[in-house]
Amino acid sequence: MLDKQTRRGFLFGAGAVCLSSTGCVAHAALSGAKHDDSLSIIMSDAHIAQPKKKTIWGEQPDYQNVICSRTIDKILEMRPLPRRVVVLGDVALWFGYRADYEVAFTLFKRLKDAGIDVHLAPGNHDHREPMISVFPECAERSPVKGRIASIVNLGTCDLFLLDSLQASDKGEGANNPVSGQLDAKQASWLADAAGKAKRPFIVASHHPVDELTYKEKPLSDFLVNKKFYSGYINGHVHRWSSVWCHKGWGGRTTTRAVSVPSVGWWGDIGFTVMRTKSDCAELTNEQSDFFILSPLGKGEARPASWDTIIKENNGCKCTFTYNS
Ligand SMILES: [Fe+2]
Repeated sequence: MLDKQTRRGFLFGAGAVCLSSTGCVAHAALSGAKHDDSLSIIMSDAHIAQPKKKTIWGEQPDYQNVICSRTIDKILEMRPLPRRVVVLGDVALWFGYRADYEVAFTLFKRLKDAGIDVHLAPGNHDHREPMISVFPECAERSPVKGRIASIVNLGTCDLFLLDSLQASDKGEGANNPVSGQLDAKQASWLADAAGKAKRPFIVASHHPVDELTYKEKPLSDFLVNKKFYSGYINGHVHRWSSVWCHKGWGGRTTTRAVSVPSVGWWGDIGFTVMRTKSDCAELTNEQSDFFILSPLGKGEARPASWDTIIKENNGCKCTFTYNS
């Protein structure tokens, strides 16, 4: 399968060309399709690239662009259509080039043309300035100046989408620190928004909650004490996992923490579907593949464990029980 994906990428040349032609077909078939306000797609780590760009480690590959395009095909085939797609960072491949975001724009435009809202957060491989120059709504929506944060209405709960990028000061083309950070201005906004919440909320960012701090203490300790806090979703790890967390041994509040797959770069490959209900939000893992650290080369044997991973992970569900 991966050989085929890679081959298709090469056959079609630059991802953007094949993506827009597929998009026209999909768009024509979409007229009249209904959207479900309670239905969201949460995806992460698309690592979209301008193909053939020469970098310090050679030319940027584009197989991940093709897998992302196929993911968008699947989303556009859903009936009803989801109301929104949330991307938890690492939109760009590695160095956050403006041209990488332009390819991502072509991909995500197919969703927008179908009336699906697209919400982006940055990851450690993104750079805010070129990202905002291609997706200006990222900055326009953000309640924190200079950051790409937002509150996304998921139906019966809200998603507080954080910007956990710890940027280098070198901008496009530079490596950022791998670790995440919640700066003081954003932490203050989060505290205010969490304190004013009138209904359940889930928090999401590129980095996992246990890698972030609030006023030099674990972010999870701060969140778990907030009324309505119902769980956390992260990207970055490129692996599907779902765990229950609680604070210390004294408290009884238990919340969900979920790590979602990479759209198509490495690791667990897929996306997740969230349905919000009256008392909970359910997340389902739609996993199509697994590879590490790149798709197999021609004639290379596929490890049996990769298929076991897909079998175990695909279709896994978890529930964010609303805390009130
Ligand atoms: Fe990533």
